[in-house]
Parts: sequence; structure tokens; C-alpha cells
Amino acid sequence: MLCATVFSIYGFSQSNSAEKIYTIDADKIKAHIQPTMYGIFFEDINMAGDGGVYAELVKNRSFEFSAPLMGWKEVKEQGVNGSILILNRGAENPNNPRFIQVNSKSAAGYGLINEGFHGMGIKKDNRYNFSVLVKLPETAGVSLQIELVNKIGEIIGHTTVLPSSKEWKKYSASFIATETEPKASLKVLVKGKGSVDLDMISLFPQDTWRQRPGGLRADLVQKLADMKPGFLRFPGGCIVEGRELDTRYQWKRTIGDVANRKMIVNRWNTEFAHRPSPDYFQSFGLGFFEYFQLAEDIGASPLPIINCGMACQFNSCELVPINQLGPYVQDALDLIEFANGSVNTPWGKKRAQLGHPKPFNLKMMGVGNEQWGPQYIDRYKIFEKAIHAKYPQIKLVSSLGPNPDGEVFDYLNKTFREQKANILDEHYYRAPEWFLQNAKRYDNYDRKGPKIFAGEYAAQSVAIASPENKNNWQCAMSEAAFMTGLERNADVVNMASYAPLFAHVEGWQWTPDLIWFDNLQSFGTPNYYVQQLYSLNKGTDVVPLTLYNEAVTGQDNSFASATLDNSTHELIIKIVNTGKLEQKADFLVKGMTTSSKGSLTVLQSDDLNSVNSMNEPLAVSPKKSEIEIDDNQVKLNLKPYSFNIIRVSIAK
Ligand code: AHR
Repeated sequence: MLCATVFSIYGFSQSNSAEKIYTIDADKIKAHIQPTMYGIFFEDINMAGDGGVYAELVKNRSFEFSAPLMGWKEVKEQGVNGSILILNRGAENPNNPRFIQVNSKSAAGYGLINEGFHGMGIKKDNRYNFSVLVKLPETAGVSLQIELVNKIGEIIGHTTVLPSSKEWKKYSASFIATETEPKASLKVLVKGKGSVDLDMISLFPQDTWRQRPGGLRADLVQKLADMKPGFLRFPGGCIVEGRELDTRYQWKRTIGDVANRKMIVNRWNTEFAHRPSPDYFQSFGLGFFEYFQLAEDIGASPLPIINCGMACQFNSCELVPINQLGPYVQDALDLIEFANGSVNTPWGKKRAQLGHPKPFNLKMMGVGNEQWGPQYIDRYKIFEKAIHAKYPQIKLVSSLGPNPDGEVFDYLNKTFREQKANILDEHYYRAPEWFLQNAKRYDNYDRKGPKIFAGEYAAQSVAIASPENKNNWQCAMSEAAFMTGLERNADVVNMASYAPLFAHVEGWQWTPDLIWFDNLQSFGTPNYYVQQLYSLNKGTDVVPLTLYNEAVTGQDNSFASATLDNSTHELIIKIVNTGKLEQKADFLVKGMTTSSKGSLTVLQSDDLNSVNSMNEPLAVSPKKSEIEIDDNQVKLNLKPYSFNIIRVSIAK
């Protein structure tokens, strides 16, 4: 019992010099690890969607922002005359009513320039695809000169479009960029005298994820794929709820022709007075079909969250009366049919028409995001009854509110357990110390009750959603320590995801975030590498790892778990040393014979304030080396402030 009671946060204990012997009973399987265990939470916050992973470079391409010319400016070359009008065709096109009419009064160069999302990220020698909807109100001999310009106005790519139709028609053209530029702008100039109607002015890189036209930013999706995530939760987050019901997420409006996807404000637009984002809208170019496709591409099980008739309870708290919930419930049922239905069902047929006749294999769905109170339970019950009557095999995720404890949490936890809910979604945005103190959180959870989804969590270095929060090593290491507790309890905890996922370095609202990007590059935070290491080393079964017969949950600043991987026949040990001293550790493997060599992967920094950045993206990143194993014993010196993963082959 020597060391078991010594507990200090971040290593102010000096008693770490003695070698500790950890025992792993490799033949005693305690729990099976779900393939879904470590996943991704996606929400269009911090420009994650528009201006982020959705690769469209033109902001406000359809003039539907509340200020129709946001993102655009008039351009008049010298001696050129012209004017613009914003027209609204109302009922003729209710999803995309506005367009712009450009009246050119001289032979050359009048039009518009778009600033992109904090500029447009352009790569030299890459091809860019321009497209536009054009209607000529009169027969006019006009042409469109398209110019991509760098930040000092020099042309770095150009093409021409010759419109000819008096009806709305899509025109496309492409060009190769001659320069790399993070802050390019796009000019659309009308040459010749006459007027021209323009809508859906768009520019995409050709080199999107899987080269899909109008697709996703390849470097950002690659970062997700590199995590080998078990699930992808989308579209949020509070974005599901909307600040009011009118701006809730409605999946049916996000599929089909992008020109007909009704754009709305992004709820993060005005959420934080300290980070106003007046130009943050949702084009839904990344919509539900693309989400399902993305999940499939990266091998993740899709987890859509649907609105349950409640707007965000931090904002308007609007509720749909119980007797008017019908359409909301129908949306949920139709979504399951859209994902899984045969091509002979109405929504399955739509999926096929969009290019995916095969089902997306949806197995779970969240009803409501971060809801609470009896009003949530009342609405949830109606959804649950209708969904399980038609689709009994679909597992439903219920929210336990925004906090991991307190009255709201206790009420929801008790009520959902009484109702035998399938999966409970817990959120914890807490101080790093909370994560260390909660490594045992799930040790005494009911083994026969609902499964746990740690649906949103991140250590907050200053305070919840403080703009001063940092993705520093202290936070990441605390999450790594806490996650040993998730893993040890994998029979109860079936899913976990860090949140939020993405942030644009110039366009964020909420920090910390897992992956930061600008218009050309991105980097994973130390927290990203923690998530990735857990996911890549999750194994298939939990086995006991103990120190003096107790689980390792903070004794002498150590947190540990062990799993087997039954496909590679390896033992995987994870141990976090949260102390400032090196620790001598001896891992004694019982019940199996180990190989004589193995690997050690270490994520470490001597400085708890270390962060990764665009300039030093790998400052805190995993380092792998080979280790020797003697007589079933792995002897290591665990570096101060380190997360260590040991892999050794085993045989009976
Ligand atoms: O992850 C950011 C926000 O935190 C989510 O939108 C919400 O669910 C939670 O409050």
C-alpha cells in the first residue's frame, strides 16, 4: 500500500525515484472495447465548415447573407462605369431568392471582388474551378473576366466565361494558379456594355478530398482520417438547436443541388461578444449527404444528432408544443430511411439519386444536443417511442446536459436510467485538475445500465470557453490521464470525443480546439495527438493493470490502462506520468509470454505550457522507439510529464 495513497497533482510529490512494479494480467479479459470507442465531434463552429473543411473559397456566393454584399466590393477599373443591384426573386426561388445584377456601362472591367474567408488560400500550380449561374436580361455582348489576385492585386490566375442564355444557366471554367497566396481575392468583371444577372459565384480547388468536385479540403480531412475514428458525430453541438427554432439545423434542407440549399445564419455568429463573427453563415454545402459520405470515407460510424423540438437553452429556450412535434419526429424517421432505407423507399431513393444506392449503415442517432429539464424528457419520450417502434435496432443517444454533475445532470441521469435509455451523452469542459481527479469517474457506474458517450470534453486551461484558453500540454496530458479511466471502463464507456474539433486561426469563437488551420495549412494540437494515440492503440479488450493490486488512477502521479489487440496479438500499455520527476517503472506481464522486443511511443514535454503552432506543428508530437523486454518484464524510465504507449507481442 506504500504508494497507493500518495496523490498530488502535477508531481509535487518527490517520492518517484523507487522502481514501481505494475502487474498486467494479460489472460484476464475485463471488458471488450467497442470499435466506436474513440471518435470525432464535428460542428460548424470556428469556421469548421464554411471557410474550413468545406473547400468553397467564395464567401456569400449567393448574396443571401443578411447584408447581401458582405464579402463583396464593387470594382471599377479606371475610366470604367457601372452599377449593381441586388434583386430578390422571392417565391420564384424561395431557397435562394437573391442574385446580383451587374450593369456595365463601358467596354471594359466593371464588377465585383470577393474577399474569401479571411482571404482565399491558393496553391501554385494547382487547378481552380470557377462556376457561376448567369442570366442575361437582354441580349448583350458581355463576357465575364475572372481574375484571382494576390494581396497586392497582381493576377495569379484567370479565365473567361462567355454567357449566352436568357435563362439561368451554370457556366464553368478553370485555371491554374501561378503563385501560392494565403490571402487571394477573386474578381468577377463584366466586359462590354450591358447587364448580367449572377448567382452562386463559386471557386473550388480541384484538389479536394478524393478529388470530389465542390468537395472538402483534403489536408483537413486527412487529419481526421489519420485518427482512424470510430464514429463521426454531426452536425453538432448547439448548431443542432439554433439560437431560436427558426435557425435550428434541418437536415432535409442540406441535401441536393447546393444552389437550392437554403442558407441561414450560423448561431456562433453573435454568440460571444468577445469574438463577434458577423460574416458567419451556413451555406450547407457540407450537408447531410456529405457528412454520411465523410463518415464512410474515414471508416467512422455516423452519429447524426437531430433537433428534438427545442432551441438552445442558453439562448431563446424556444420549445415546440408537444402536440406540434409531428414534423420533427418525422424528420428523424426520414433521416433513418435516408441513411439506411432501400432504394425503393422515398428517402432511400433520394440517397441513390445523390449517388449512393448502398445504405450508410446508420446504427445510432442523438435526440437533442445539450438539452435539459422535464421539457426535454417529455419530448425525448415521443421521439424514442416513434423511432423504436419503426427502427428498434437504432441506439439512441440522450443528453445529460452541459455539466458532468449538479442538479441538472442528476435529474437527467436518474430519469434516463429509469427509462432504460441506450446511451447517455456526458459533457465535461473542465479544468485540467478535474480530469486527473476524475480518472475513477466510471469505476462504480452501473454495469447493466445505459452505455456512456463522453460526447464533448476538453480541459480548459483558464475557464470554460475563455478566449485565453490554450491547447497546452498540461491540458492534453490531463486528458490522456483521464482517458485511462475511460479505457479501463470500456464495458460502460463505449464512445468518447474531444470538442470542438476545428478552428480557423483568424476566425474562431471557442478555444481550445483539436485542430487549428489557416487558409493553406493546419496543425494538430497536443490534444490531437492524445486522441490519435488512443484511437490508433485502442486494442480490442481491456486487461487489468495494477499497482499493489489497485488500478493506477493517480498514485505517485501515474495513470495507466492496458488492452490486448486480438488482431495483432499485442499487449498495449498506456501510462501517463503527470509528475515533474522521471519514474522508474517495471511492467510485469502475467498469463502470457511476451516477445523480446516491443515499441515505446512517447508524447512529452518538460514544459506544461508547451503548445503546437503553425510554425512548430510538431513541438509536442509522438516519438517512437524500440524497446527490449526481458523475461516478461518491460523496464522503463518514464519521462516527466509524459504519455507513454508500449506495444509488445504476446502469445499464450
Ligand atoms: O463544443 C462547443 C459547444 O459546447 C457545443 O456546441 C455545445 O454542445 C457545448 O455547449
